[in-house]
Amino acid sequence: MLYTRVCELLGVECPIVSAPMVGRATAELVAAVSAAGGFGLIGGSTAGPEWLREQIRMVRERTDRPFGVGFISSAPGVEALVQVALEEQVTAISHSFVDPSSYVDAAHAAGVKVLAQVQTLAGATAAARAGVDLITAQGTEAGGHTGYNASLPFVPAVVDVVGDIPVLAAGGIADGRGLAAVLMLGAEGAWIGTRFLTSREAGGATWAKAAVVGAGTDDTVLTRAYDIAQNAPFPQHVGGRVLRNQFTARWHEHDDQVLARREELAAEVLAAEERGDTQVAPVYAGSAAGLITAIEPAAEIVRRIVTEAEDMLRKRTAQVLR
Ligand SMILES: Cc1cc2nc3c(=O)[nH]c(=O)nc-3n(C[C@H](O)[C@H](O)[C@H](O)COP(=O)(O)O)c2cc1C
Repeated sequence: MLYTRVCELLGVECPIVSAPMVGRATAELVAAVSAAGGFGLIGGSTAGPEWLREQIRMVRERTDRPFGVGFISSAPGVEALVQVALEEQVTAISHSFVDPSSYVDAAHAAGVKVLAQVQTLAGATAAARAGVDLITAQGTEAGGHTGYNASLPFVPAVVDVVGDIPVLAAGGIADGRGLAAVLMLGAEGAWIGTRFLTSREAGGATWAKAAVVGAGTDDTVLTRAYDIAQNAPFPQHVGGRVLRNQFTARWHEHDDQVLARREELAAEVLAAEERGDTQVAPVYAGSAAGLITAIEPAAEIVRRIVTEAEDMLRKRTAQVLR
């Protein structure tokens, strides 16, 4: 049976965390992942404090298992959202895209654990120094906003610099092979977005889920084009990984031109989102899209990844060791 320090820390059965995807990781997905033995994180930056409070309560109506909330902490208004999560005493709060130092004391005083998702070694060192309970090393393969370090070297490098703090790996994990691999890199579990994005319970438009299921490994690009057009609140060291389309073919790596036409492009993107036009609207997804062939219930995804990883760890070890 798979059991790691993350299971102990979060009070869960298996070392799988579903990512706090804005607009996608809503109560239904989080409750399904937690009820299946993983740890679900609500995408807390979706729609304001009252929405968040309601989502937390909806998870509690569905399961009594532990779960948390994750934020795009570089976005304005995050303080009020964090306050809601603290008042509701979720098990853990995760912060991405900032130095988490200013959040740690208040969370610990409320009995809430702090997770930090990082994209650089400097970010990992700062999070460790801040005293967070768990660090997620996010590789560039990840869907949504991410940095430029590949998981294979980045995860062990983070493990090496953060001392005793447990590390999760994020980016590119969609099956048991991925989970087994990151355990070998020293991670204590997997933080998974794209695979749960294509679960039955995930929020968001059906056309976006279908586009991810239909996409292959070569079909994503890490770009700043949408962030610049939409004036999105992310730091310079991250871009957004999306499915390639006509918009990215025209605007990726033309940041100055995008900036000059920001209003016009933002309006085009908004209209495309309303009509479900995947050639212009962003479909955030990671390279792991190439490993996904169906929309499935989240509980099945959790169970299959764990069973496959257990199998893989036993069989591959026997196959490759003499
Ligand atoms: C649609 C989508 C939305 C995301 N939104 C957030 C977010 O709101 N906050 C956050 O910290 N990470 C967000 N992420 C990144 C995830 O936390 C995670 O790092 C990533 O999904 C892991 O890689 P994978 O997609 O290959 O599993 C998002 C990812 C996706 C695909």
